[in-house]
Amino acid sequence: MRVLIVGCGYLGTAAGALLVRAGHEVVGLRRTGEGQDELLSAGIIPAMGDVTDPGSLDRLSGPFDAVVNTVSSSRGGADVYRAVYLEGTRILLDWLRQHPVRRYVYTSSTSVYGQTDGSTVDEDSPAEPGTETGAVLRATEELLLDAARAGFPSVILRVAGIYGPGRGHLFRQFLEGEARLSGDGHRCMNMIHRDDVATAIVAALDRGQGGRIYNCTDDESVTQRDFLAWLSDRLARPMPTPTDEEAPTRKKRGITHKRVSNLRLRTELGWVPRYPTFREGYAADVAQAVRMTAGPDEPCPVVQPLTA
Ligand SMILES: NC(=O)c1ccc[n+]([C@@H]2O[C@H](COP(=O)([O-])OP(=O)(O)OC[C@H]3O[C@@H](n4cnc5c(N)ncnc54)[C@H](OP(=O)(O)O)[C@@H]3O)[C@@H](O)[C@H]2O)c1
Repeated sequence: MRVLIVGCGYLGTAAGALLVRAGHEVVGLRRTGEGQDELLSAGIIPAMGDVTDPGSLDRLSGPFDAVVNTVSSSRGGADVYRAVYLEGTRILLDWLRQHPVRRYVYTSSTSVYGQTDGSTVDEDSPAEPGTETGAVLRATEELLLDAARAGFPSVILRVAGIYGPGRGHLFRQFLEGEARLSGDGHRCMNMIHRDDVATAIVAALDRGQGGRIYNCTDDESVTQRDFLAWLSDRLARPMPTPTDEEAPTRKKRGITHKRVSNLRLRTELGWVPRYPTFREGYAADVAQAVRMTAGPDEPCPVVQPLTA
């Protein structure tokens, strides 16, 4: 296959590397020339262009058999979300009418689930985001679902909070002594290791059904308190102090509390996470942090490899 990865950043590069290793040709589109060396060393052909500019797509060296859209807003606000996700997808769909593909995979987010009651959510649960940015992601999904009803082969992955080499916001805050417990810390977080999202993208390309949504998260939602307590225990550091954050049940918009199920991804696509929980996923980072604070005479913990 020739695969185009639109927005070939942190996640796209990991997915592209897997595809290259499986013998596919991969072109990785980014807005800037940044990260070109990383793409090249993963065997990905770098391309520069802006998904919000149709001319950029026309300059690509097609045809492609499949497109993976892992573009991100690069921390921008709702306007950037609208341009990159919604308009970008519209532009891609227009372009792909002239250049049909066999599969299209889009990485949406579990933030489209606005639940605040701690319930378990699957792909049939209401997806009513409480934030403007979540609403843009949901509208982008709807665009792709409409296209799928007309025969376009789009598959949607709703991805949980990604961590992995160099990423993991709360973990890093904890290491810097800046993590805070929100309220009593009962809020559930849903996470996934970058390398497991990459294998889910490959599974979606291989076996995903057009018009189908798959949640992409690990096997265990964890409360903020339990996650921080685990770090505190492993790293022998005190629990962070609580803040007075309002409980999510009191309608603090954007702060959700839910347990996202990955059952469909596992059963329908046969996906098995390499890091079923944060414990395995963070083992290497934790071991490294312990090693950095250990004295010279203390034994070194075993460090697990992070990449596949
Ligand atoms: N990170 C998370 O926790 C998380 C959670 C749920 C879902 N997701 C989804 O997962 C996907 C990948 O996330 P990520 O963390 O890998 O993002 P990332 O590292 O920020 O990579 C995104 C890439 O998109 C490129 N890009 C941005 N605007 C573009 C444009 N207008 N045209 C072409 N390329 C553009 C960026 O290129 P430049 O570097 O050149 O600007 C960057 O390489 C996104 O769709 C995100 O919504 C992420």
